[in-house]
Amino acid sequence: MDKQKLTKLFSPDAVSRLSEVEIYQNIDSTNSEALRRLKGGQVGGFLIAARSQSAGRGRRGRNWVSQLDAGLYMSLVLPFAETVENLQALSLVAAIAVHDGIGSSYPAPLQLKWPNDILAGNRKLAGILLERSKTETGSAIVFGIGVNIKLPASAQKEIDRPHTDMSSIADREIEFEVLCASVVNHLIRCVDRFCQVGFAEFKDSWNIRDRYIGEDIVIEMGNEQRFGKSHGVNDDGCLVMQSPEGIKVISNGEIFPSLRPLQQD
Ligand code: BTN
Repeated sequence: MDKQKLTKLFSPDAVSRLSEVEIYQNIDSTNSEALRRLKGGQVGGFLIAARSQSAGRGRRGRNWVSQLDAGLYMSLVLPFAETVENLQALSLVAAIAVHDGIGSSYPAPLQLKWPNDILAGNRKLAGILLERSKTETGSAIVFGIGVNIKLPASAQKEIDRPHTDMSSIADREIEFEVLCASVVNHLIRCVDRFCQVGFAEFKDSWNIRDRYIGEDIVIEMGNEQRFGKSHGVNDDGCLVMQSPEGIKVISNGEIFPSLRPLQQD
C-alpha cells in the first residue's frame, strides 16, 4: 500500500482528523499497535495499516487470518471527548460505514450480519473489532477492520466459517489504497454523524442492509442458544427477536441462520 496515494484519496474530513498514517509490512496486530500507541500517550486520530499480521485478532477471542496482501488490515483510531456509552450502536454504525465504503468503490451486493459482519452472498467478506482505550483527554476507539481481498488456498483452509473475498465479487482488480480510503472516509463521516444525532437515524440504514431480518435465526451466547425470528435492530442497536416465549432484546451474541423451524402454538 502506497501511503502517498492513500492520503491523496482521503476526504477533507479525514485529512483534518488524522495526524498520522503508518503502514507496516508486518506487525502482530494493527489493533494491538494502536492500543500500545494510545497507552504510550499518542493523541489525535491516526491510522495504522499492515500488509500482513502475525497475530491478527477477531471478535470473541478468535484469530484473524492475515497473510501477506491477502486482505486489508487496518485500525482507525478516533478520540472522543467523553466516554462513548453505547459502544454496541457505534459498532453497528461502523459496520454500515464499512459496508458502504466497500460498496461505493467496488459495487457488489453486500449485506450485514449483526453485530458487525459484512457479507457477500451469505459469506463473510469483512469483520470489525472495536476496542476502547482511556486517554488523558477522554477516550479513544480503535476501529479494527479486516477485509478479505484475495485469499490463497492456504489462508482459506485456516478459516473455519463460510468466507469470500473481494477478488471473487468485484469486476476489477482491487487497489488497496482505494478501498482503504473509501472505508476511512465513510467511517469518519458516519461516526461524526452518530456523535451528533445518535443511533436512531442509522436504525433503518442497518435494517435495510440486514441479511437476516424477517428470517429464523439462532443466536449463540456462550453455551446458550436462542431461536427466533429476527426483527432487525432497535433504537439502541440491540437485536430484536420474536421467540416462542415472546419478544427478546439481545445485546450480545452471534447470529446463525436457523435450520430449525420455529415452533407454532
Ligand atoms: C471479526 O472477528 O470479525 C473482526 C475481525 C477484525 C480483524 C481486523 S484486521 C485489522 C485489525 N487488527 C486486528 O488484529 N484485528 C482487526
